Amino acid sequence: MTDTQYGKKIWMDGKFIPWEECKIHVMSHVIHYGTSVFEGIRCYKGKDNSYVFRLKDHVKRLLNSAKIYRMDPKYTQEELEKIILDTIRENEMKDCYIRPIIFRGFGDLGVNPQENPINCACAVWGWGSYLGKDAMENGIDVCTSTWRRMAPNTMPTLAKAGSNYMNSQLIKMEALLNGYTEGIALDTNGHISEGSGENIFLVINNSLYTPPSHSSILPGITRHSVIVLAREKGYKVKQQIIPRESVYIADEVFFTGTAAEISVIRSVDRIPIGSGKRGPITKELQKTFFDILECREPDKHGWMTPVY
Ligand SMILES: Cc1ncc(COP(=O)(O)O)c(C=O)c1O
Repeated sequence: MTDTQYGKKIWMDGKFIPWEECKIHVMSHVIHYGTSVFEGIRCYKGKDNSYVFRLKDHVKRLLNSAKIYRMDPKYTQEELEKIILDTIRENEMKDCYIRPIIFRGFGDLGVNPQENPINCACAVWGWGSYLGKDAMENGIDVCTSTWRRMAPNTMPTLAKAGSNYMNSQLIKMEALLNGYTEGIALDTNGHISEGSGENIFLVINNSLYTPPSHSSILPGITRHSVIVLAREKGYKVKQQIIPRESVYIADEVFFTGTAAEISVIRSVDRIPIGSGKRGPITKELQKTFFDILECREPDKHGWMTPVY
């Protein structure tokens, strides 16, 4: 991880605490059983202000993740949106990554989480390009992971839960140890699912394809944004089951995610994708996406929330 610049204060349970002093008890339920749900959000610096990208949608997904796990954070959608904006302001950040998290603290050490308090925190930090500087233009080399995403009815993938990231960590570590930047996981049927922290798109004959929500993906907010923008540009976008081998013969392949933004995949399992360079449709979508994020185009979708 490069270019990380931590904020000065973290908001936790109603107050701001210096970054170094923001601590929880070692016997907290979350430490032993992974009892957390969280979000990853980005704030971008525009000409005259900073803007949070799709704040409402991220907070909605956070509350949905909490609901799936029967966690009531006692904060409303509007209150959580304000906490996030206040945290950016308190840290005087211009552009940053934002991490709100709801977790179970210390109360009872049984597996049943319901006797444990629910805590809520929000931190911000400056984060450069997640998959490395080359990811946007030259592209990254990825592999197909030997690890599968969770089977339906095991761990719910629609919830952005901390525990799901144990699976992501296996995918990521295997990829890095074998000399790749990221891994693509298949679902339990052997179809393409997603990266350890990104959704995936294929471009084939000028149409876009991405796995559907029943392929064990986290339905990404960047994924949704790309679907909207690509359709507006006149491209067909299909959310459908994708056989593993179709990535090898696609014209272009890219990852989407809040951290990864739109990252080019130049090879999968050492097979070059298309020309082995960033393709024209990926480039066009990156431009359209960043023109909105960096306020060069009007925000006609209402995706940008001003911070200051
Ligand atoms: C497993 C996984 N899939 C997909 C995504 C992309 O989601 P989003 O675009 O909402 O960041 C993420 C990012 O957090 C992720 O962790």
